[in-house]
Amino acid sequence: QITDSETVRIFLNGCFDLMHVGHFNALRQAKRLFFQQGYKKVVLVAGIHSDDAIARHKGPPMMSDDERIAVLEATKWVDEFVTHLPYVSMSAQLADALRVKWICHGDDMPICEGGGGMYSDAVEKGRFQLLKRTEGISTTQIIQRLIRQQGLGSETEVDAMESALATTQRLGQFAAPADPEQDAKLLTSAKTVVYVPGIFDLVHPGHVSILRQAAKLGDYLLVGLYSDEMVRLHRGTPPVLTMLERAMAVLSTRWVDDVVLGVPWKITKELLATMNISMVIVGRPPDGLEPKQLQAEEDQMDLARSQGILKQLWSSFAVSSEALTL
Ligand code: CTP
Repeated sequence: QITDSETVRIFLNGCFDLMHVGHFNALRQAKRLFFQQGYKKVVLVAGIHSDDAIARHKGPPMMSDDERIAVLEATKWVDEFVTHLPYVSMSAQLADALRVKWICHGDDMPICEGGGGMYSDAVEKGRFQLLKRTEGISTTQIIQRLIRQQGLGSETEVDAMESALATTQRLGQFAAPADPEQDAKLLTSAKTVVYVPGIFDLVHPGHVSILRQAAKLGDYLLVGLYSDEMVRLHRGTPPVLTMLERAMAVLSTRWVDDVVLGVPWKITKELLATMNISMVIVGRPPDGLEPKQLQAEEDQMDLARSQGILKQLWSSFAVSSEALTL
């Protein structure tokens, strides 16, 4: 039984547009920091600004309110969330209203609407916790990468292209359960390993929907990620995010137990046997696939189909209404 004094509630807000490893890492770090301080339970309340507030302050976001909320809700470090936040001071009074002890943010302190530091009041009242911002990635940078992908960037720019760095330890931190007391699931103890291969570039509500449904079909969800080079070879354009950035993002969702990096484009016997895979999932967008895409997929999934272990899932986009209201 965890007592009140062993529990801490914390808050972290953002735009969470084109949700990327910088955002996921901020949420992960915030939660871990308080576990490291000795709390047994850390309740992370995430706040997300409204489309209108973002549009007025920084320009329109790439993803809508509902899309940004769906991805945030799928994040394993988030316990509760507040939506449609205005771009105003995240004050000690707000912290009280949300019953949180600490307000956290990366070390890139924003200014709120009408001027003034968004966290000045919380800092002054001793209710603010600074986190280290993740270098090499941002929403703006992702947009720049998209522009380059369209062939509009120069070679020198490509050489200097940054990305979020990953060590094997960092990957392990993303793969670990959000609660350090909980043991990670083991592939070897799983009865039904469900395998979802894909690119998973820029996690969106369609991915979230497929992963959520796939997890229900077994007791271990394994994602297979194609390498950047493999994607370029088969699709013509490389993914926007590197394979490691994509790995950290899918590991941040509530349902993924592990990721296989650089899987073969076509399902192989070795892959099915080594990973003890019982079911292979192909996700379908609500409006289906183009005939060319279907043909390519047929080839990729041939072995799983012939073994009768291929299953199609249709993505649906529904946002739950479980958010806290202020
Ligand atoms: N964050 C981070 N590292 C990044 C990007 C964001 O640690 N590379 C953190 C921010 O400091 C904040 C949280 O993620 O605590 C949510 O940030 P948000 O307001 O959504 O994003 P921005 O800071 O505007 O980041 P971006 O430039 O990517 O939009």
